[in-house]
Amino acid sequence: MKKLIATFAVAVSVGAQAAAPADGIVAGRDYHSYADPSAFVVKHLDLNLQASFEEKSLSGVADLTVKRVGADARKLTLDTRDLVIRQVWWVKAADDLKTLRFTLGVRDPMLGAPLTLDLPRELDAPEFVVRVSYQTRPEASGLQWVAAAQTADRTHPFLFTQSQAIHARSWIPLQDSPQVRMTYTATIRVPRGMRAVMSAESYTNPKELLPDGVYKFRMPQAIPSYLVALAVAKLEFRATGPRTGVYAESSVVEAAAKEFSETEQMIEVSEKLFGPYRWGRYDLLILPPSFPFGGMENPRLSFITPTVIAGDRSLTALIAHELAHSWSGNLVTNATWRDLWLNEGFTVFLQGRIVRAVYGERREQMEEVLDLSTLRSDLADLPPSDLVLAMDLRGRDPDEVFTQVPYIKGALFISWLESRFGAAGIDAFLKSYFDHFQFQSITTEQFRAYLETNLLPKKPGAVTAAEIDEWITRPGLPAFAVLPVSDAFDKVDEQRKAWLGGTAAASLPGKDWTTHEWVHFLDGFPGTVAATKLAELDAVWNLTQTGNSEVAFSWLRVAIANDYAPAYPRLESYLTAIGRRKLIKPLYEDLMKTPAGAERARAIYSRARPNYHPIATATLDAILKRGN
Ligand code: BES
Ligand code: ZN
Repeated sequence: MKKLIATFAVAVSVGAQAAAPADGIVAGRDYHSYADPSAFVVKHLDLNLQASFEEKSLSGVADLTVKRVGADARKLTLDTRDLVIRQVWWVKAADDLKTLRFTLGVRDPMLGAPLTLDLPRELDAPEFVVRVSYQTRPEASGLQWVAAAQTADRTHPFLFTQSQAIHARSWIPLQDSPQVRMTYTATIRVPRGMRAVMSAESYTNPKELLPDGVYKFRMPQAIPSYLVALAVAKLEFRATGPRTGVYAESSVVEAAAKEFSETEQMIEVSEKLFGPYRWGRYDLLILPPSFPFGGMENPRLSFITPTVIAGDRSLTALIAHELAHSWSGNLVTNATWRDLWLNEGFTVFLQGRIVRAVYGERREQMEEVLDLSTLRSDLADLPPSDLVLAMDLRGRDPDEVFTQVPYIKGALFISWLESRFGAAGIDAFLKSYFDHFQFQSITTEQFRAYLETNLLPKKPGAVTAAEIDEWITRPGLPAFAVLPVSDAFDKVDEQRKAWLGGTAAASLPGKDWTTHEWVHFLDGFPGTVAATKLAELDAVWNLTQTGNSEVAFSWLRVAIANDYAPAYPRLESYLTAIGRRKLIKPLYEDLMKTPAGAERARAIYSRARPNYHPIATATLDAILKRGN
């Protein structure tokens, strides 16, 4: 933290005066962690855990190698949430353990409880190891213990972690802040017949099922805690290239390997643009449908929702996105959750570059227009204070402030820079930015200072300080933003208009449409469409029964808006089968708009809730106004 503030001071002296954040926010200060990196920083984590599906618990020890930063610091504070802490030691030598006194503070509903270790005077080494013996609770917010019945194969249960943003602390006691980077090693014991995978290299061969159920891992690059990840399941592996492959349950693995066979090509494209892929392998893990996100960029092993396996590779932008985080996010990391747009906005921009190179500009444009429309609905619904790139998250749970603003507004900012400095100019700048800040965690202010010294002088006068300021500090989209357009969608708009005007549904070119055109077609429906029209469309194109989760989502929104009853059984089966927050939250919100819909929502939710992830139920409980 000291270092960040020092760098920030430099940023102010070279940048515009307006670079200081508003309202007393301290740039680089993590308001979502109890840890004090100006006293101590954790450099390495060694985990030794056993997974019990009966007890829904991970149990064992975490050894933390700690570096002293503050000369006189005597208290080491770690983040925890709902952990059972058994004992804490100072590991003076392998055979010399000294018990440490500790206190577990009051549990804050958002932050969890600080675990404070009292360090004896005698412990004055610049670097030392502490060992925490602990176990997780069944309700740990970062773990989902999926029952066998909710998996693809239905034979074995499935455990997976989701540490971003502040859930690592619910399964590991550590400094849970993105500005603390550490390497890690792990030994994970799992039931026989199951396999453990992590966001790390495995030096017990990951592609083999190990008869003793003991798996060992090593992550030699320093990463933030939110990228520590583990899954335990009955998994198969299929290679898709020399350094890429897919882990999935056996009934899914072939389809997944086919759907994501272009991953190596995506890495090659990215390396050309942004510099070497620095993480060795890049594998995908296909999770059960209750995974609350589309994807999670855990290093070396992105976690992926099965809802993007559409059969026609039309939703692989998600893979481009998670892969792009290998540069924006995992290599150069947001210092605090306020700076999330540095991770997500840049990644959406990189994702567009990858999609363009692999699938062409037409598809890139369609995806950008779809993204823009999701941003527009957030811009219309959210208060102005939530429409700035570097949001004030003090006192707020990062999970509940998950919007399109850091993603799409962030990407549009970079696109706008591209419009002023040229594609080659912006790509060269990004590459140098990744090299310059590699394996560091940085603030919005540090990025801005870097931009001002390394891009703006390339073309003096191309942008003004006031324009940059508007992007970074003001709500909404600047009037001078450069917005995507899509000819392909203009055609779909005409076709929708013709159909609404009375032409037959059978004359729509739907068999040539990919997910993109279908979603755009459906999302553009006016407030009401006659039930007979919807029935005709459904009869010809079988929308209620589509296996494409994104098309089904858009269709179900139309169905709710028009009270189209034939789709209701599918609505219920959809909401009980899928737990991806982006695909279910809007459906519940739509239902809640009418009394009859609210009743339906509550009935469905009471059946679906037991199978949702804790991150999803936290959001949905608030929407449906219910607790446990
Ligand atoms: N890192 C995010 C997911 C995330 C962000 C989890 C913040 C918790 C807090 C991941 O890379 C992501 O952005 N996923 C998107 C993918 C999409 C934009 C292609 C998702 O899950 O929808
Ligand atoms: Zn992302």
